[in-house]
Amino acid sequence: MRKFVIDCDTGTDDAIALMAAFGCEEIEILGITSVNGNVNEDNVSRNNLNMCEYLGWEVPVCRGAAYPFTMGFRNSSDQTHGKTGLGSVVIPEAVSHTFDRRISSRFLYEKAVECQGELELLVTGPMTNIAAAIIQYPDFAKLIKHLWFMGGAVYGGNVLPTAEFNIWVDPEAALTVFSSGIPLTMVGLDVTLKAIMTREDIEELRANGSKAAVLTADLLEFMEKRFARGGEDIIMHDALALAAAVYPECLQYRDYWMDVETRGDYTRGHTYADVRNKLNRQPNVRVATEIDVPAFRRWLVDKICLCK
Ligand code: BDR
Ligand code: CA
Repeated sequence: MRKFVIDCDTGTDDAIALMAAFGCEEIEILGITSVNGNVNEDNVSRNNLNMCEYLGWEVPVCRGAAYPFTMGFRNSSDQTHGKTGLGSVVIPEAVSHTFDRRISSRFLYEKAVECQGELELLVTGPMTNIAAAIIQYPDFAKLIKHLWFMGGAVYGGNVLPTAEFNIWVDPEAALTVFSSGIPLTMVGLDVTLKAIMTREDIEELRANGSKAAVLTADLLEFMEKRFARGGEDIIMHDALALAAAVYPECLQYRDYWMDVETRGDYTRGHTYADVRNKLNRQPNVRVATEIDVPAFRRWLVDKICLCK
């Protein structure tokens, strides 16, 4: 079975990606690593631990990077993921589950060594933990089979006209990952902005009645209300990165040489793709460029319903 660690900044849509991942029978999740992003690292880590206890997942949950490499705290606005990261949704505090004693970068490295070149990573937040592992353990990058990530955009942005949130939070970390030699698949705003769930999906999940399906319906309803208030739509950025890993047919791809802008006053965090191959360099990123939205929505609802 394929082996994954999920590195995330949970986060409403990260939470849904986690539930979908636990519904995927073709993958084994070896652990969850937490990173500052949508909310601070403390809230992210608690969300991950609380979800494990609430949904009965017996996997290690690690604390992780509390700050990006060079800037101070950078979190998304309260309106996007709420104060705790789970919007208006409340799940019980974990009482029996405790954090793994290892910091995320150490855990990632140990799992990479144990898996002997077979470990895959799903990264749905800023790349600080992954970059830390690359910097701390020189053989780490070579041990990773593939890294699937939500982040960046070939065209456009969400926090800035040319920068997507996960990359904008920690551009130096993203640059470290892009130049690491790890095989990368990028699922960026070019496709994720189209991955919008509907009222029909919410009703199907609620009718299913499982704990994960109801929790997902609650999170989607928070997003539906957020959209009605003028905020972000019911967009499944992070679950789409999981889909790239386990249901690649719902996307189309192009290979590009890519770099991360770390210096521009207005463009810091931009993911630059050499779309016209002017630089004549070997591609380092496979980029999702088109999405079959109905197929993705069907897949996501099914995986959430299978989550246990
Ligand atoms: C990304 O930022 C966060 O708001 C989401 O969880 C997603 O990972 C989208 O830009
Ligand atoms: Ca995220």
